[in-house]
Amino acid sequence: MVESLIDQARAALANAHVPYSDYRVGAALRTADGSVFVGCNIENANYSNSLHAEEVAIAEAVKTGHTDFETLAVTSAARDGVTPCGMCRQTLAEFCGASFRIVCDLGDDDVAAYTLGELLPDTISEDTLDAAGETGESG
Ligand code: THU
Ligand code: ZN
Repeated sequence: MVESLIDQARAALANAHVPYSDYRVGAALRTADGSVFVGCNIENANYSNSLHAEEVAIAEAVKTGHTDFETLAVTSAARDGVTPCGMCRQTLAEFCGASFRIVCDLGDDDVAAYTLGELLPDTISEDTLDAAGETGESG
């Protein structure tokens, strides 16, 4: 199961658009119904518009109504165990709880496995905003 998701993340590397960093990232996101959505990084000449592989995979899932995420696999062409960056961790937290599983490719059959809670403890969430509303805090 995990191997197949890593394989799909690896396959996504082929479409990465990385003329600036030359650092290919691939992601594969499995949702609760067994669907898999993949993404690769897509860089831009202004640098700041660059899309991360995880963001692209998440967008592919959400745009078709899949918001119940089960596991995310991430890889780079370097097979260096790259993990989602802080921004991507926060984007995952919009849809996933602390126990969401993230597997990162260390090459061969090796992965580093994390939960989102390990990678992003104490994140801001809808609950944070609701709680502030209930106490009447305005800043
Ligand atoms: N990158 C991702 O695609 N995902 C991450 O979470 C980390 C960074 C990409 C962005 C850029 O194209 C390249 O890796 C180097 O930072
Ligand atoms: Zn990122």
